[in-house]
Order: sequence, then structure tokens, then C-alpha cells
Amino acid sequence: MNIHIIGGGNLGASVATGIAKFSSNHSITVTRRNTSKIKHLEELGIILSTDNCHNIQEADIVILTIKPYQVDLVLAEILPAITNKIVASAVSGLSIESLQSKIGDTNQAIRIMPNIAAQFGESATCISFQEKNALQGRKLVTLFQDLGTAPIIDEKLMDAATVLAASGTAFALRYIRASMQAGIEIGFDWQTALAISAQTVKGAAEMLMEEQVHPEQLIDRVTTPQGCTIAGLNEMEMHGFSASLIRGIKTSLKQIKG
Ligand SMILES: NC(=O)c1ccc[n+]([C@@H]2O[C@H](COP(=O)([O-])OP(=O)(O)OC[C@H]3O[C@@H](n4cnc5c(N)ncnc54)[C@H](OP(=O)(O)O)[C@@H]3O)[C@@H](O)[C@H]2O)c1
Repeated sequence: MNIHIIGGGNLGASVATGIAKFSSNHSITVTRRNTSKIKHLEELGIILSTDNCHNIQEADIVILTIKPYQVDLVLAEILPAITNKIVASAVSGLSIESLQSKIGDTNQAIRIMPNIAAQFGESATCISFQEKNALQGRKLVTLFQDLGTAPIIDEKLMDAATVLAASGTAFALRYIRASMQAGIEIGFDWQTALAISAQTVKGAAEMLMEEQVHPEQLIDRVTTPQGCTIAGLNEMEMHGFSASLIRGIKTSLKQIKG
């Protein structure tokens, strides 16, 4: 497919890299006003342009990875050049209904919520579309399955998906940082503490995804009665470990909803 990504910033560049590396047979164009910051993408065969309409007529899918306040300006530029295109938006807070009314009935609005791990083929990309656009929606699902996992969700959960998958990346990294800080206190240099903490989280996540079980079943395998793990877990919970994460996620959601 011809894929046209408008807004080659943190997310747009990650998605472009992920598609180039993990999904075959696509031609990818990425636009932004200052392309010098993403020159390295050219090594992956990605075409860069400062013109949002460059190659857009050949595009099968137009992906919007711009900030909400840039949407109207960008659409005003590209609308005269697009008809019968899938327009997939990662713009937070922009509903399918609103995007569809902006792009007109000749194009199909799809909502996607990837995260920056798309670059490594490890994004959790939630996708929503209207039933009438199911065919186009499924094309996006197939594409983003190459870049990680891509569940179809009810659009009313899109804000929740933003918090769990996009903000969730920062939450997971903060857990790793805390584990690493503790690692330094108990004797490791920071590089070794980071390597151990990051690999341990990756290993735990891979076990969960492979075995498809509740986390508590795996936790049970590492908690010997009277052992060090259960002692540590109970101490963390007494200081609000799970409660603090749940409160943080709910606060992020409140913030999105305004
Ligand atoms: N970052 C994430 O993890 C994440 C996850 C899910 C969803 N999102 C959503 O994705 C969107 C982008 O987020 P981001 O973090 O990637 O922001 P970002 O890094 O600021 O990227 C936005 C890009 O848009 C470009 N841009 C601005 N005006 C433009 C125009 N008129 N034409 C073409 N390109 C233009 C900017 O580059 P120039 O200044 O060079 O033009 C910038 O690189 C937001 O709506 C955000 O909510 C982000």
C-alpha cells in the first residue's frame, strides 16, 4: 500500500519506522515542516517532504499524527487532493464523527491509538471504526498487527486506550526507573540495574502474552511461602503500589476528558 503519514514527530516517525521495518511491500511518505530532524528515515526507504500533498493522490491510507490544533490547517491543505482515501487519525480527542464531517463522505475516517513502541514492532494500537467502514478498518488492523497488537475497540473507550497504551508507556518506564534506583541502592551500577530491570519486565510481559493467564498465576510461581518475594510484594502494597498506579491512570483519564 501507499501510506502517507502527516506529522513526522514522535509518533509519526515511530509508526513510519515500524511499518518500514515490520510490514512488507509498502511505499511510505512522511511529511512535516522541518524534515531535517527525521533525515535518518530516508535510510529505510521512506520519502520525506515538507509538502503535505506530496504523493498524496497515490496514497491508500493517510495517517494523521499531528497535534489537535494542527488538524484544521492540515485538512484545509490536503482535502482538495484526496478522495476515496482511508484517513486514520491518531489525534487524541478527535472523534470519528468529527473527523468524518471534516473530510467529507468520499473519504473514510478511522481512529487509531498507537504508541511509540511501534518503532520496534511492539505497539499496542487500539482501533475504532464505524460499521460502514469495516473493510477499511480491517486494513488498518492488519497493518498495525505487524507493529504489535491491534485490538478493535468501542470508540467510547478511546480516551481510556490513550491512557493505558500511550501514557502507559511512561508509566511502565517509571516502574523500570524505580526498580533501577532500588537496584543501585542494593549494589548494582546503573547500567547493570537498568539492563536487569528492563529485561525482567520484558520477560514478565512475554510470559503473560505467551501463556494468556492472569498475572497472579505467574506471581504465584515466584512467591515461596515465607520467602523474600511475598515479603517485598506485601511491603509495596502496604505503601500503595497498586492503588497508586490505579489512581494515576484514573487521574490521567479525568485530565483527557477535561
Ligand atoms: N507521542 C505519543 O506517544 C502519542 C501516542 C498516541 C497518540 N498521540 C497523538 O499523536 C499526535 C502527535 O503527537 P506527537 O507526540 O508525535 O507530537 P509531535 O512530536 O509534536 O509531532 C507532531 C508533528 O507534526 C508536525 N507538524 C506540525 N504542523 C504541521 C503541519 N502543518 N504539517 C505537517 N506536519 C506538521 C511537527 O513537525 P514540524 O514542526 O517540523 O512541522 C511535529 O513533528 C497528537 O495528537 C498526540 O495526542 C501521541
